[in-house]
Amino acid sequence: MKITRRNWLRQAAGTVAAAGVPAMLGRRANALSKPHHHVDPNVITGEGSLMAHASARGLLTGAAVNIQLLRSDETYRRVLGEQYSILVGENCMKFGPTQPKPDVYYFNDADGLVTFAEANGMKVRGHNFIWHEYLPEWFTGTVTKENAKKILVDHIMTVGGRYKGRIHSWDVVNEAIWIEDGRPDGLRSSSPWFQMLGPEYIDLAYRTAHEADPNAFLTYNDYGIEYDNAEEGKKRAAVLDLLKRMKAAGTPIDALGVQSHLNSASTNSFGRGTTELLDAARQLGLQVFITELDVKDDGQETDDIAKRDEEVAHVYRAFTGSMLEGKQVKAVLTWGVSDAHSWLNGPKWRVKHPDRLQRPLPFDSDYTPKPAFFALRDSFDKAKRR
Ligand code: G3I
Repeated sequence: MKITRRNWLRQAAGTVAAAGVPAMLGRRANALSKPHHHVDPNVITGEGSLMAHASARGLLTGAAVNIQLLRSDETYRRVLGEQYSILVGENCMKFGPTQPKPDVYYFNDADGLVTFAEANGMKVRGHNFIWHEYLPEWFTGTVTKENAKKILVDHIMTVGGRYKGRIHSWDVVNEAIWIEDGRPDGLRSSSPWFQMLGPEYIDLAYRTAHEADPNAFLTYNDYGIEYDNAEEGKKRAAVLDLLKRMKAAGTPIDALGVQSHLNSASTNSFGRGTTELLDAARQLGLQVFITELDVKDDGQETDDIAKRDEEVAHVYRAFTGSMLEGKQVKAVLTWGVSDAHSWLNGPKWRVKHPDRLQRPLPFDSDYTPKPAFFALRDSFDKAKRR
């Protein structure tokens, strides 16, 4: 009996139980061993999974992982194992969670993620070493201009060193450009790292990351660089200038992470901006990863879920279609799996329609695949092999 959109989870559970193998391993082996031809579009596991369609084009595909769900939700674990070839911690590898006290590191959560991924043959992205957000409480008051360099180096050497050789790519510096701070180079001068160390903190972070884990692709990750509009154009130019300066200075950098937090209510298009990013990345010899894809739909006027889902899927299709035209993009990750656990469903992000949940991800809250799932999979099918 074939697996349909509606009953696929029930089916998967039954098949796996009958075979007596762990869910993720059973489905994954199936996905990798079958040829990728004439797939019934209703089949969404095995050869119909995102992972199988992506890998047929030499692409990795993945999602940000919520560590609490990874521990508690068996269906979540199964979907991860069935659909993805690369995972990233939504929060568990950030500075705050990994270094809760100046001299105390905490690795249980990040270890759990890496162990799960490895047991299921998946790669892991490291997110992130240096960011202006989600720093531990002790940071303010403890970090000074005098000790900031040592703290940065110790943190990267300790966290990067722990997972040395096991990380596909590290977001070494996250979101270092912020045009609103008014600097000609666009650097975020309000970041505590900038304030302690000046612009050199960026180079220092990459050189240290290279020392800690020489085989990880060192990535610069940022958002607000996707759309064709003046604001994002400015930010894109500043990001590309930063990457050029890093390359010219011999800073070890391998990839650009385009976060891709998109908005289905936006009237802006894609194409010019994505071409600019991808051309520049190619000239600089950088890979590109779509690192945090999701699509807000709080701004959609209609309450009709089918219509909202089609709008969200349309954005998935248009954006990934444009980004995957060339061969520069090597991985596509969404920022979460199911709508139920998206960061966009925090009250802060539900502004126009505070009483309804956003539907930004490929899976519904019960892990049913949505039109966005099929849009993403179609974009993989249309991509050239890389
Ligand atoms: O873990 C605590 C919990 O103990 C506490 O009870 C609760 C009360 O608010 O907070 C919990 O921490 C929250 C954490 O997510 C885990 O859920 C933090 O308040 C909240 O600020 C944090 O938000 C995360 C945010 O980054 C800041 O780290 C989001 O989940 C995460 O999706 C978001 O991810 C970022 C990327 O790292 C970078 N790009 C943008 C993206 C979206 O903002």
